[in-house]
This record gives sequence, structure tokens and C-alpha cells, in this order.
Amino acid sequence: MGHPVLRRRAAAVTADHAALLPDLVRDMVETMYDARGIGLAAPQVAESLRVIVFLDMACRETDEPATLQVLINPEVVPVGADIALDWEGCLSIPGLRGEVARHARIRYSGIDGTGQRVEREATGLAARVVQHEVDHLDGILYPDRMTDMRRFGFVEELDDSEDMDP
Ligand code: NI
Repeated sequence: MGHPVLRRRAAAVTADHAALLPDLVRDMVETMYDARGIGLAAPQVAESLRVIVFLDMACRETDEPATLQVLINPEVVPVGADIALDWEGCLSIPGLRGEVARHARIRYSGIDGTGQRVEREATGLAARVVQHEVDHLDGILYPDRMTDMRRFGFVEELDDSEDMDP
């Protein structure tokens, strides 16, 4: 937080970026895993392009491991009017957590890591992570979304925060 690249609107990925995409995605995935995060947006590795990676937590309720998703030029549309309130962290705002309201159900679309167009619905943590990461592409950080700053603080000071670091 504080780096100007995090506040810029990231540029759409075009064919001109094809050559740098594989290295960018590899760097993002490595950075996410190193930091034990569950999502990352390209501006967080100082590349102002519309690319996110995240672990799809839809599988969390089964024993299947979360699957890694790459999304290029992602779009998010809310489904229904339900709002969910939960704790978030961010690798660009280390050590802190805050409670953020997000759409409970979304439809997201974009191009995946193999060049295929994807369109999926997500709820729960997956919906939250996608909204958090797409916000990064518009220069928005989760504290900007908070309405009660008393629900913002250092991890060790917060009783009921979850282990979550997108
Ligand atoms: Ni973040």
C-alpha cells in the first residue's frame, strides 16, 4: 500500500502482451504461494495489467484441493442482491485485517491461462476473492470498501479474523 501502481486502473491485456503473459502469471502464482495467499492481482507485482490469479475455494466443502485459476481481463457481475460481510487481508497491506461487505454471489468471466473464455458463478470465499482481486485492477484496496473502521486492525488484535490473505 502506498505504491502508485496499486492506485492506477490497470490496462486491458491485448495480443501485444502475449509474450510477457506466461512469465507474469508464473511470477504472480509464485508470489501468491510464497506469501501463503489465496489470490493476487498483477498490479501487486508492479505490472499494471488486467490479470488475476486465485485459488477457487468452491471445492473447500469437499476434500478436493482448491484449484488455481488464472483470469485475464476479468469481469464481475453481481447475481442477486445479497451482501456478505467477512474479514479480508491483502498481501499489499501486510499484517492487517478488515471486515468488508461484498456481493454474496457473482458471475465472473474472462480468459483463462489456456486462452479459453470462462464464465462461472461463485459464492462464499471464492466470490469474495474474485471481487477483491478485480478491485485491485481498478486501483481499489479493501479498506476503501470498509464502512466501519473499528473493524480494521492488526491480525493479532482481532479475535475472530480468518486466515485469509488475498
Ligand atoms: Ni489484495
